[in-house]
Amino acid sequence: MKPPPPPPPPPRPLPPALIVLLLLLLLSTPIATSLSLPHPPTPSPTSSPASPSTSTTSTLDPKQVIALESLNIPTSRDPCAQPSFHNATICDSSKPFRHLISLRLANCSSYLSLSFTALKSLSTLRSLSLLNCPLSPVRLPPELASSLTSFSSVNGFRHISGVWLSQLQNLTSLTVSGGQVKASGPFVILAHMTKLKTLTISNANLTGSLPGHLHSNLTFIDFSNNRLKGNIPPSITMLDSLQLLNLSSNSLAGEIPSSLGDLISLTNLSLASNSFTGSIPDSISALPSLLHMDLSSNQLNGTIPKFISQMKSLRYLNLANNNLRGVLPFNLTFIKRLEVLKVGGNTNLCYNHSTISSKLKLGISPCDKYGMPVTPPSKDSSADDSTDDDYDDGDGEGIRHKKEHHHGPNKFVLGVAIALSSIVFLIVFLILCSKCCR
Ligand SMILES: *[C@@H]1O[C@H](CO)[C@@H](O)[C@H](O)[C@H]1NC(C)=O
Ligand SMILES: *[C@@H]1O[C@H](CO)[C@@H](O)[C@H](O)[C@H]1NC(C)=O
Ligand SMILES: *[C@@H]1O[C@H](CO)[C@@H](O)[C@H](O)[C@H]1NC(C)=O
Ligand SMILES: *[C@@H]1O[C@H](CO)[C@@H](O)[C@H](O)[C@H]1NC(C)=O
Ligand SMILES: *[C@@H]1O[C@H](CO)[C@@H](O)[C@H](O)[C@H]1NC(C)=O
Ligand SMILES: *[C@@H]1O[C@H](CO)[C@@H](O)[C@H](O)[C@H]1NC(C)=O
Ligand SMILES: *[C@@H]1O[C@H](CO)[C@@H](O)[C@H](O)[C@H]1NC(C)=O
Ligand SMILES: *[C@@H]1O[C@H](CO)[C@@H](O)[C@H](O)[C@H]1NC(C)=O
Ligand SMILES: *[C@@H]1O[C@H](CO)[C@@H](O)[C@H](O)[C@H]1NC(C)=O
Ligand SMILES: *[C@@H]1O[C@H](CO)[C@@H](O)[C@H](O)[C@H]1NC(C)=O
Repeated sequence: MKPPPPPPPPPRPLPPALIVLLLLLLLSTPIATSLSLPHPPTPSPTSSPASPSTSTTSTLDPKQVIALESLNIPTSRDPCAQPSFHNATICDSSKPFRHLISLRLANCSSYLSLSFTALKSLSTLRSLSLLNCPLSPVRLPPELASSLTSFSSVNGFRHISGVWLSQLQNLTSLTVSGGQVKASGPFVILAHMTKLKTLTISNANLTGSLPGHLHSNLTFIDFSNNRLKGNIPPSITMLDSLQLLNLSSNSLAGEIPSSLGDLISLTNLSLASNSFTGSIPDSISALPSLLHMDLSSNQLNGTIPKFISQMKSLRYLNLANNNLRGVLPFNLTFIKRLEVLKVGGNTNLCYNHSTISSKLKLGISPCDKYGMPVTPPSKDSSADDSTDDDYDDGDGEGIRHKKEHHHGPNKFVLGVAIALSSIVFLIVFLILCSKCCR
């Protein structure tokens, strides 16, 4: 299909000499411009008049250079050259001066302080990120507030008020993790962020309740490790682009709304370590792309919906430490497909020992013929040929990673032995060979 010379274009085939000439010309233009650096740029005959990518001559706005210096970011080397020092800065290509569009402060010294003046001269930033920079927040220049589309503070500001964050109305991405976020509720922060796509406010002691209305373009919500109260509003169903919902480690309560089954894009869900009650809604098994479901450490009761075993995408399932009861409705085919299954810590939950081997160590007891857990003292009742570690309900955590129980270590050891001996044989053979031949 591809002959070595360039394929002859039907209308006007170029003579090879012309191609070589064109190549030479192309190669020579960058050299020419870089040589003419000290002089005002002389437009080379071939280059198009407007080519923003080759604006090597303009430098960073001097006001922004001063602002960077006040933040201890070295400017002896051009901060616009990529990759920049610790990837801290990215510039646009405007003229006569370039401007910063992204700034990342990491591992700041404890003496560092932000000033309003510095922030004001950085109002061209579209992305600002603080990582391990325990700064004190300052007044936010309105120009910066409207310019930012991405803000991230991970162990950054020691405390931020919701009102401060709420000024960032053009954000598509907001991350605050670590440090106190003071607000009467998430709605204070989010009410006007209509463009938000990804939202993380975690480990921030955030109080209040989940907003009744969230903007429908959100794909990622992580509110883990806060102090949110109340229940999940049924209006959550509006978020049909939502892929991840993490509400773990809060004080949320009430039932899991069955409308959660409407979040058709959801892949990762954690409601772990809250106070949710009632049963697991059947509708949850209608989530077509769910990979990861963690409902552990709540007060969920009732039986486990058997439809869960029809969730084709599911890889991680944690239902541990609830009040679930009855027979675990999963067969071996389903369990083998999972990477993690945890069901321990549910005292009235049991497994059918004629379908599931006790060797899986699920952390629950086998069932008696009435579907009730056999009580641990009457161990012998399971009349199994397996060893005595049938059920270890002491820890309440049935942890299982994918491992091969069945043809055990013997095959593995054999394989390693064969591999090792063939390598040794090969080496000996090669040595002998080289001695013979030389
Ligand atoms: C800068 O970013 C590039 C690409 O994202 C990455 O490969 C490189 O390791 C980063 N350098 C530093 C010092 O973080
Ligand atoms: C910040 O510090 C951490 C650990 O001390 C280190 O791993 C990381 O590379 C540092 N990051 C930067 C951008 O200096
Ligand atoms: C958001 O950005 C647009 C330009 O992209 C700007 O006109 C507008 O004022 C900004 N809005 C806010 C609330 O900052
Ligand atoms: C949250 O509150 C607890 C108890 O008041 C406190 O110990 C902890 O440091 C706070 N966390 C943050 C990130 O401020
Ligand atoms: C949501 O995203 C779509 C497409 O990306 C866009 O047309 C729409 O305006 C966005 N909605 C809001 C509220 O920003
Ligand atoms: C939720 O957040 C917790 C703590 O931040 C984390 O350990 C867990 O993996 C997250 N789960 C999901 C589904 O994102
Ligand atoms: C979602 O869950 C899967 C399966 O447990 C995991 O591999 C992946 O990292 C999770 N994604 C996020 C963003 O936490
Ligand atoms: C589950 O708990 C709720 C209260 O939290 C109770 O009303 C309900 O009867 C319980 N259901 C079962 C099957 O135990
Ligand atoms: C296991 O359960 C699934 C779903 O309930 C079912 O489709 C499958 O046929 C069962 N497999 C066996 C071996 O019973
Ligand atoms: C366990 O499974 C067997 C075979 O599928 C079935 O006959 C029996 O009724 C089940 N026992 C319980 C308690 O569900």
